[in-house]
Amino acid sequence: MEIYTDFLVLGSGIAGLSFAIKAAGLGTVAMVTKQDMTDSNTNMAQGGIAVVQDQADRFEYHINDTLICGGGLCNEGVVRFVVTEGPERIRELVQWGVEFTRSTNDPEQFDLGREGGHSMRRVIHAKDLTGQEIERALNEKACQEKNIRIFENHIAIDLIMKSSVIGQKIEIGDRCLGAYVLDIANNSVHTFRAKFIMLSTGGAGKVYLITTNPDIATADGIAMAYRAGAKIANMEFIQFHPTCLYHPDAKSFLISEAVRGEGAILKLKSGATFMEKYHPMKSLAPRDFVAKAIDTELKKSGDDYVLLDITHRDKDFLMSRFPNIYEKCLAFGIDMTRSPIPVVPAEHYLCGGVMVNTNGETSIERLFACGEVSCTGLHGANRLASNSLLEAVVFAQRSYRRVADLLSSVEDAPLPIPAWDPRGATESDESVVVSHNWDEIRRCMWNYVGIVRSDKRLERAQRRIDLIIREIEEYYRNFIITRDLLELRNIAVAAKLIVTCARMRKESRGLHFNLDYPDKDDRLWLKDTIISREELWRKT
Ligand code: SIN
Repeated sequence: MEIYTDFLVLGSGIAGLSFAIKAAGLGTVAMVTKQDMTDSNTNMAQGGIAVVQDQADRFEYHINDTLICGGGLCNEGVVRFVVTEGPERIRELVQWGVEFTRSTNDPEQFDLGREGGHSMRRVIHAKDLTGQEIERALNEKACQEKNIRIFENHIAIDLIMKSSVIGQKIEIGDRCLGAYVLDIANNSVHTFRAKFIMLSTGGAGKVYLITTNPDIATADGIAMAYRAGAKIANMEFIQFHPTCLYHPDAKSFLISEAVRGEGAILKLKSGATFMEKYHPMKSLAPRDFVAKAIDTELKKSGDDYVLLDITHRDKDFLMSRFPNIYEKCLAFGIDMTRSPIPVVPAEHYLCGGVMVNTNGETSIERLFACGEVSCTGLHGANRLASNSLLEAVVFAQRSYRRVADLLSSVEDAPLPIPAWDPRGATESDESVVVSHNWDEIRRCMWNYVGIVRSDKRLERAQRRIDLIIREIEEYYRNFIITRDLLELRNIAVAAKLIVTCARMRKESRGLHFNLDYPDKDDRLWLKDTIISREELWRKT
């Protein structure tokens, strides 16, 4: 089947939905999402959206906090417009039906939470289920738009490039024409052709063994963009969230930083505090400091976890501010109002991704990227908490404005695209290859490319990942594709990109800490690590 539409949106989190809702005013939209519409990283977001609201707060303060957290690598121009355009985007979300928690003193105002690295209270939220509330409202809105057609349980395989259709080598100025998409339930591949393609597929949590991300976070957009020849940047900056619930039966449940914002204190199992040794903001320091401090303390003590203690706060307050976290902990036998919560760091957010300009355009014509999949220059070497949903809505608006300007100049006679070629692939009787390599990549990345890295560990990781990639490519060529195989292929590419960027950066900055280069080197490394498929080919 061939589907022709004005806009193809891959992914259904806040970035994809915001863009799709706006683009539906310009033309037809196909939204492709690999599970249900609500299965996205956005849906899991607990904290909220950082935005200047308080009388005492200033854009300059938010800009400054973002720049400090970003370790010298933020693009100041981007930081400035994201912060200043934020309040308008929040008004729009409210108009679309998102219900943020209001202040108990003044229902006209939002309740403002605080998180690590912020000098002021500025995180608007819907209790501790902010992402779920945003997804609910935006999904309802998208479903009402006649111009939006939704394809659930469909996963994009690869982008279709003009160069491959006309049999040329990838070159600068190559154009994206659409994507081949697997209908998972029916096991058939469709051609989606579009005038503009928006990648909003989220992050890469599943590259790591322990992550706060849902199962869908398999770096699909980054891997596809890389294979298509797009420029990718700063993949070494993986943000580890310091406080993921430690419990054998809890599948990576996040304990929001907002809990520390309300006074929770990190302690060792002995009850001793430790953050004062690492940062003047103590438990509310930026995440790179907190995660590294916990890692160091755990290695020193040999313990499996540290404790997050908020038992000094009022029970009613905790139950009303954090109903989700309270219930979840209770289900695992931990009453957070009476005993501290055992926590460990876990992979949480990818600060690098597909490079985009200030309009969300990638280095490939007609291909846009928005949300965690993209690298906009906002986060630099370390993202400030709750800046990511803000980035998504600001860039969705900017991309929308850009496509609105370009739409009339796009020709109407599209190139013929060949249907997907299954290349005589057969059913696999060796699915163990997929599950084995899945585990191996994630374990290898956790052990060798985690919070603390070294040249030796990175080299080891590179050797293993390269080997696994060769094995996966052979398997991919010979056997019928499945969702599991596509996701494995994508996490393998993302792992390679993370290791490559980490090996390039010969210093320590923000989220990248290498024991062999423990200091920041502003003379040589005050710059992004930018890679593309062409460049990596040339080097090998
Ligand atoms: C959290 O609630 O701690 C996560 C917020 C974020 O990652 O920005």
